[in-house]
Amino acid sequence: MIPLLRFCFIIVLLFSRLGFAQTTPNTPAIPTQIPGHDAILVGTDWYPEQWPESRWEEDLRLMETANLKAVRIAEFAWSRMEPSEGHYDFDWLERAISLAAKHHIVSVVGTPTGGPPAWLTQEHPETLRIDEAGHRAVHGNRAHGSVNSPVYRNYCRKIAEAMAVRFGHNPDVVGWQIDNEYGYAWMSFDDFTRKQFQGWLQSKYKTLDNLNRQWTTTYWSQTYNRWDQIPIPVGDSNNPGLVLEWRRLVTDIWNDYQKNQINVIRAHADTRQFITGNFMGFFDGFDHYKMSEPLTFAAWDDYVGSGHLDPTSNGLTHDLTRGFKRSNFWVIETQPGAVNWAGVNNFLNKGEVRAMAWQAIAHGADDVSYWQWRSALNGQEEYHGTLIGADGTPAPLYSEVAQIGREFSSVQDAFRGTTVVSDVALLNSYDSRWAIDFQKHTGKYDQVELLKSYYAALRKLTDSVDVISPYAPLDRYKLVVAPDLNVLPKDLADHLLEYAHNGGCLVLGPRSGMKDDANGLLPQRQPGYLVDALGGRVEQYYALEKDFPVSGTWGSGEVKIWAEQMKAGAPNTEVLMKYGPSNGWLDDQPAAITSPYGKGRITYIGAVLDDKLMAAAGEWMVKNSNVTRTSITVPDGVEVSRRTGGGKQVFLLINFTREDRSVSLPHSMKLLLAQKEGSKVTLPPYGVEVLTEGR
Ligand code: GLA
Repeated sequence: MIPLLRFCFIIVLLFSRLGFAQTTPNTPAIPTQIPGHDAILVGTDWYPEQWPESRWEEDLRLMETANLKAVRIAEFAWSRMEPSEGHYDFDWLERAISLAAKHHIVSVVGTPTGGPPAWLTQEHPETLRIDEAGHRAVHGNRAHGSVNSPVYRNYCRKIAEAMAVRFGHNPDVVGWQIDNEYGYAWMSFDDFTRKQFQGWLQSKYKTLDNLNRQWTTTYWSQTYNRWDQIPIPVGDSNNPGLVLEWRRLVTDIWNDYQKNQINVIRAHADTRQFITGNFMGFFDGFDHYKMSEPLTFAAWDDYVGSGHLDPTSNGLTHDLTRGFKRSNFWVIETQPGAVNWAGVNNFLNKGEVRAMAWQAIAHGADDVSYWQWRSALNGQEEYHGTLIGADGTPAPLYSEVAQIGREFSSVQDAFRGTTVVSDVALLNSYDSRWAIDFQKHTGKYDQVELLKSYYAALRKLTDSVDVISPYAPLDRYKLVVAPDLNVLPKDLADHLLEYAHNGGCLVLGPRSGMKDDANGLLPQRQPGYLVDALGGRVEQYYALEKDFPVSGTWGSGEVKIWAEQMKAGAPNTEVLMKYGPSNGWLDDQPAAITSPYGKGRITYIGAVLDDKLMAAAGEWMVKNSNVTRTSITVPDGVEVSRRTGGGKQVFLLINFTREDRSVSLPHSMKLLLAQKEGSKVTLPPYGVEVLTEGR
């Protein structure tokens, strides 16, 4: 080998060992990125059916000028696409899609089943859902269809099929959205659904004896002698087994509802066309991990509502959505300044919309789409924020979104083939969300807030945190934290034990390991099947009226809302924190304990900690598990994130404050937005910078 070639070979080998030199062809395709198009897109939700066709060209010209690259289209256009039963009119939609393509804009077609037309609901009133109080929905709003009605499902399948036949091979259609925000109106409480619930329980529990035993129905004389005696739970006071199973059935109903459309679209559409659904962050009407299974990738609708962007909450919700499929995602709706449905529909500050868009990309989104392009001149959402005004000319925010579009386009190569890779996983369980919320024990206990407190502490120390299902593969994580894994059946306990046994650091928060799969108490006390491995357990839990002192390895501070009296019962089990004088019961008792287990470690934190202690606990967790720390040290109010893949790593710095912030880089890097190299970044209010290695 001639010397120069040999040198190059060694360099390539070295870099590939470091994981930085995989070439693009070896990089797994990111399903959210559309071959031949920009890797990161700005889009908008466009309703051509609301306007004369003569207007479309101007709309699309304005979109193209703003560098918008995608429209979501048709998700509320059922009455226009099927004006009367079986008479389809898709010509207008095809013309809209082609015209968009002429302006270099791809289309995502939404199925319109979130808004059934009047001819359908009048002809078949059974397609209208029934609420908990037994009232049938009326026409004139949306989400009035009964998602569990076989008649409604049949109509949904037919319109989805007709659309797929027409657009499944259309080169300008890149994907599909099913329905709109599943769960918007929850469920239909009708006889059909009750019978389905009874049959569903029968196939799960097999015998009534088994169900009666697992639900302890001798309590309050609930014992069932026939399957058809079992009700759908309504109101607040129900058997915990009944309510948990009902929520699981609701998930299955929504999943079957979407699969009914997905299957028929898949049968007719090119495989390159993705299928997604627009979720609503921490909405807990169904298990999002199960609902994401048949989707190509997850998408969500990111709205601030009243007030301003809370970067921690918003970052957490992006990471939650990324965890649904453990892949990149889309923000398929976001607010163009203001919404119309919050307490105070204030406008985001100048620059805030841009910071918000970049945060989505930083956390693994590949598209950010504004809802909506222009308000219909009448209809329920006249006041909502838009990119252009009622007169059809740009609103003030248009130029900020145009800047985002320009920037996304100019740096898109840096993001192609990249995703977020993390050493840390937070576990999020819908079973536990439901189980705790049915029996909160204190109104102050907020699981999303607790998750956020762990997230805030850990995200400050690392470039990324994953939020995933407890059943997800865990072996690639150095640290796995379950803030309150209340429902912890044997199979899940085994999964966690295997992780820790093989060297993982598992941290459990309060209320963990209390319930079995039927939402009944585990007789071991908390954390149930993990008591032996932890070498300790919870002796008693307490809902707190006020904060109590606590001190130990993580310093001194206070516990709030919830505290558990722990016991360290094995020689290897170490007490990390102890309560100070409090209610007498907790005085001087362990609040957090830890124990080595196999090649790893299990830790249990039995209380809700104040922010300072949480930060110290986060520091301890990161140190003990050897998690890779943030690559760039940033001041308060600035977030650093990292995406990797395709032989690249790209960093994002976002200043969420209204003041200048400066950041010193570890070495000189390329500042892609500022188009220069340097080792210092000055970020103006809401400023953003995208960085790659300088060499
Ligand atoms: C939701 C819906 C949209 C629109 C917006 C308004 O996200 O999906 O159709 O109503 O809210 O904020």
